[in-house]
Amino acid sequence: MSNHVVTETHDRIFTIRLNRPEKKNALTQAMYLAMTDGLRQADANAAVRVILITGTADCFTAGNDLMDFANAKPDEASVAVQFLQVLSSTQKPIVAAVGGVAVGIGTTMLLHCDLVYAASSARFQLPFVNLGLCPEAASSLILPAQMGHHRAAELLFLGDAFGAITARDWGIVNEIYPDPELSLAAMTVAQKLAEKAPIALRTTKSLMKRAQANVIAETMSREGQQFAALLQGPEAREAMMAFMQKRKPDFSKF
Ligand code: COA
Repeated sequence: MSNHVVTETHDRIFTIRLNRPEKKNALTQAMYLAMTDGLRQADANAAVRVILITGTADCFTAGNDLMDFANAKPDEASVAVQFLQVLSSTQKPIVAAVGGVAVGIGTTMLLHCDLVYAASSARFQLPFVNLGLCPEAASSLILPAQMGHHRAAELLFLGDAFGAITARDWGIVNEIYPDPELSLAAMTVAQKLAEKAPIALRTTKSLMKRAQANVIAETMSREGQQFAALLQGPEAREAMMAFMQKRKPDFSKF
């Protein structure tokens, strides 16, 4: 397992902690594989009742590693898509605790968690269009359904960062806590879930997700194809180059 993803089981709670603070917990291929492996193991292990996903104190994740994006090969199987598919079909309840930045997949993965808690400092962002890309994680379906087309268009077209209050008001976050209290608050909820009747809890989750499961899987796969094509295109190349050169991208030539 990648040491940038730390996993542990304690009191029936399986914790996945993103731990690459020097790069704002940006997700590499190895990190996706480690998270996917962790989710599969947790779902299969009867000793685990709840999964908790979190980052470091001041950062959830800055999203996909942009170097990996820049070096992505055409037709390469996407470990990010595989992670999202496993996350969205995990049977056990998933709690997320978000402090600091949650960019790109850092925000969209939350749509597949069951209970999401944010620190007051949390900053969310869906900068796909800014990067010459399109949404993933079925966010093009889930966000408009959850918050209405206009709000979703604001988040996905403009790609600006937004705070914890907007995230809560628009249905991405359950509750906000002062930064120093986030970890304990999320852990307390995870402990409550861990004490509940496990089969009843899993059955409830699966009933809640049943109606949308097929359309979510189909949307994820459609988005994945478009995303992969855009990633090889000139707009994404310009955006990645601009990030590395620490400048604003210039899309005027397209
Ligand atoms: N991929 C690779 N490296 C990343 C990264 C990413 N997604 N996000 C941040 N980093 C790196 C930076 O390059 C920097 O590395 P360096 O110290 O070697 O130069 C380090 O992490 C710290 O980032 P920095 O930009 O200095 O921190 P900040 O607090 O000023 O800003 C962010 C944080 C997340 C707002 C900013 O880094 C950012 O916008 N990152 C890109 C996010 C993104 O577009 N993700 C993809 C979404 S699809």
